[in-house]
Amino acid sequence: MVPSNSLILFICSFSLFFLLVIGRKELALETSEEEAHHYHTLHLSSFFPSSVCNLSIKGDKKRGSLEVVHKHGPCSKFNKDMVKPLTVEETITQDQLRVDSIKARLTINTWKKDILDSKTTLPAKSGSTIGSGNYIVTIGLGTPKKDLSLIFDTGSDLTWTQCQPCAVYCYSQQDPIFASSMSTTYTNISCTSNECSGLASATGHTPRCISSTCVYAIQYGDKSFTVGFFGKEKLTITSQDVIDGFFFGCGQNNQGLFHGAAGLLGLGHDKLSFVSQTANKYGKVFSYCLPSKSSSIGYLTFGISGVPSNVKYTPFSNKNSLYGLELLAMYVGGTKLAISPMVFTTSGMIIDSGTVITRLPPTAYSALSKAFRAQMTQYPLTRPVSLFDTCYDLSNFQTVSVPKIGVLWGGNTYVDVPISGIFIVKDISQVCLAFAANEYDSDVGIWGNTQQKTQAIVYDVGGGKIGFASGGCA
Ligand SMILES: *[C@@H]1O[C@H](CO)[C@@H](O)[C@H](O)[C@H]1NC(C)=O
Ligand SMILES: *[C@@H]1O[C@H](CO)[C@@H](O)[C@H](O)[C@H]1NC(C)=O
Repeated sequence: MVPSNSLILFICSFSLFFLLVIGRKELALETSEEEAHHYHTLHLSSFFPSSVCNLSIKGDKKRGSLEVVHKHGPCSKFNKDMVKPLTVEETITQDQLRVDSIKARLTINTWKKDILDSKTTLPAKSGSTIGSGNYIVTIGLGTPKKDLSLIFDTGSDLTWTQCQPCAVYCYSQQDPIFASSMSTTYTNISCTSNECSGLASATGHTPRCISSTCVYAIQYGDKSFTVGFFGKEKLTITSQDVIDGFFFGCGQNNQGLFHGAAGLLGLGHDKLSFVSQTANKYGKVFSYCLPSKSSSIGYLTFGISGVPSNVKYTPFSNKNSLYGLELLAMYVGGTKLAISPMVFTTSGMIIDSGTVITRLPPTAYSALSKAFRAQMTQYPLTRPVSLFDTCYDLSNFQTVSVPKIGVLWGGNTYVDVPISGIFIVKDISQVCLAFAANEYDSDVGIWGNTQQKTQAIVYDVGGGKIGFASGGCA
């Protein structure tokens, strides 16, 4: 018997329906909480930081926990004349220097060029910073303890501060400059020690020797540098958390874009990083939450006690002492973007606390922005800002319905980008998708700090994994 036309039609439409359902199922993400909610509702008033610091912070102060503040907001104690807030364009100009230096570090060893041998020219721009997304923690150094505001940086290893007598040069900083001679617990490190030899890998520069004291030198991507004595000192995290004999740089020639901060806390995973030096105490685990805006406070916690229960892990790999991650796929509004997995494997990716904006392979970025625009058609596109080409004029809106952006990390760990990580705001008439394209698909991808805001990011260096948990600061 020949099937009737209507039966064929029925079978065809049924298969089509089936195909669509299966197809959608394959494309759409299958976690129950995600399926129902593919959009964020954004209240535009939440874009703008308040002029006063909101001091409320998660729970009680945990053991080994420090407050994290944005250098340019009302929660930092920095004098606004010393540390001028940056425009979006200035932020991106500085961010690009950091991105370029990360690329250089992962491709050729240009960063190992010895700065002690070369005349370095510096972009001496007052009110600027090393990379612009600087988050600051306050740590006590020496005996008696002196509080110092340090930039924390997962992209470098050596911890240092400017030190008196500033034999060559110190830039202006908010805290009094550390005086090692006034501390009863400071010691110089000798040139023959293992720690001195360890500086070569931690800084990329062979250490020098001055009257048998070990001398370190490190230069950052924006050509900022610090050179000084390598010392050992007592470090106070909180009154219960004190580290004796911590190796750090006592900077005698410090130049570049660090303005305001007293130095840097190196949270890479090289042998001399803070993480490795405190391995016995904290088990090579730390976590942080970057606040949603500069008028609120986040935290940096050392040890397992800072790890929230809702954390989801992905493995990390060592990329020249940076934290490498595997990105498998991206989603917009619950739909997987059609990007060949090869695109992500070719570029690779690192997570960095100091890069502001996530950099994606151009192929991935164009798929992302296209899908994002397609789901934002009710809002008027406007002219680009700096490297952002997907910008909206939201002057006439109070709330915006924003498609969620999700990431599938290695180990099939799905994580939504928090709402505070989707836009960068020049002003209400230019609100831009806060992702950017690298120049080439082969350039390393970087997961930046805008996309990390409000999440607890857990670095379990011993366990070789990095975790993400939503609602980290709240
Ligand atoms: C550390 O070594 C330098 C260079 O030799 C010296 O000037 C300084 O006084 C030493 N500091 C201490 C506390 O020994
Ligand atoms: C301050 O922060 C808390 C916790 O993040 C939040 O619940 C509260 O609404 C904030 N208050 C203001 C005035 O922004």
